[in-house]
Amino acid sequence: MYNWDDPIKEALNKPEPKSTDSTKAEEALSSESLQEGLTGIEDIEQGAGRIRVDDKAIINCRADLNQLVPFKYEWAWKKYLDGSANHWMPEEIPMHDDIKLWNDPKGLTEDERNIVEVNLGFFSTADSLVANNLVLAVYKHITNPECRQYLLRQAFEEAIHTHAYTYCVQSLGLDESKIFNMYREIPAVATKAEWALPFTQSLGDPTFKTGTKENNQRLLRDLVAFYVIFEGIFFYVGFTQILSMGRRNKLTGVAQQFQYILRDESMHMNFGIDVINQIKLENPELWSEDFQTEMIELVKDGVKLETQYAYDTMPKPILGINASLYEEFIKFIANRRLTQIGLPEQYPGATNPFEWMSEIMDLKKEKNFFETRVTEYKTGGQLKFD
Ligand SMILES: [Fe+2]
Ligand SMILES: [Fe+2]
Repeated sequence: MYNWDDPIKEALNKPEPKSTDSTKAEEALSSESLQEGLTGIEDIEQGAGRIRVDDKAIINCRADLNQLVPFKYEWAWKKYLDGSANHWMPEEIPMHDDIKLWNDPKGLTEDERNIVEVNLGFFSTADSLVANNLVLAVYKHITNPECRQYLLRQAFEEAIHTHAYTYCVQSLGLDESKIFNMYREIPAVATKAEWALPFTQSLGDPTFKTGTKENNQRLLRDLVAFYVIFEGIFFYVGFTQILSMGRRNKLTGVAQQFQYILRDESMHMNFGIDVINQIKLENPELWSEDFQTEMIELVKDGVKLETQYAYDTMPKPILGINASLYEEFIKFIANRRLTQIGLPEQYPGATNPFEWMSEIMDLKKEKNFFETRVTEYKTGGQLKFD
């Protein structure tokens, strides 16, 4: 199980910050006085006091945002370093065999071709949506330089992902217009993007500022929707479908692109979970009973949509896998996501029907995935399918 305890334990061992007095914080916030943070582009304050670690906070921080050090959140800096060490580009992955197979009329079944096209359609626009959420909605309100450093890395990785899907579409000679318009034309692709949009639109309002309980919760809600559900649940059926093809030596180039992307996504999600848990720790009044109930319902909505995606994209079994196995898999993933942000499992006893995915997705040791594989998977390395 992913262990997010370390930064949390470390913080818990420190003297109680003022904000942990939830009653006082509630009172202060209930007056709706805005306690917004800086953006980083304010005028320079000559002769201002030097930054202390204790001045830093994930949201609503008033300490200068242009100074990366001293670090408060070492985990954010470490993820930035690990993400950078895993740098890759789509052109590094050979696509010759894929092109040959795709152009062979007997190379793939119609169902297999459809799965590839629909997933390229979903992910190509989904990754743009995630990038836009980061840049236009989230970044401004995360008032910590080391977290912003990772967000900048993540934003570039999302650009690489969109590049990778486009590279697959162009390599295979697919109809670009058909693929890139799927999120407006194919319901299974559209519904997940449509579900996520209101969460980012809420923050995209140029007048939106954090600093009240209600607005801080809006930011937290967006983080849960995008990091825990969109990147943490909505990507998993599609990734599994494509990786299962690679595992059977079909479209191994496309599958390798997806495997590199999955490695990045796993870190994005774990970063988001660390951010969410740290915000909870620093602002306990936000994580109210009502809010927790709402987050559980959001995860359940996500499970329903991802399950529907599995059935819509696999009306018939493909490569020995049927949609009902995915249903179990999604519940298993959702239980993990819930516990990672401190909420109770909603699907008791759900198991992982895809043991072979454990190594690729590293469900057993998500936390250590990058620490243990950074060297092995340095730029340009070839991934293997077991
Ligand atoms: Fe991505
Ligand atoms: Fe991502």
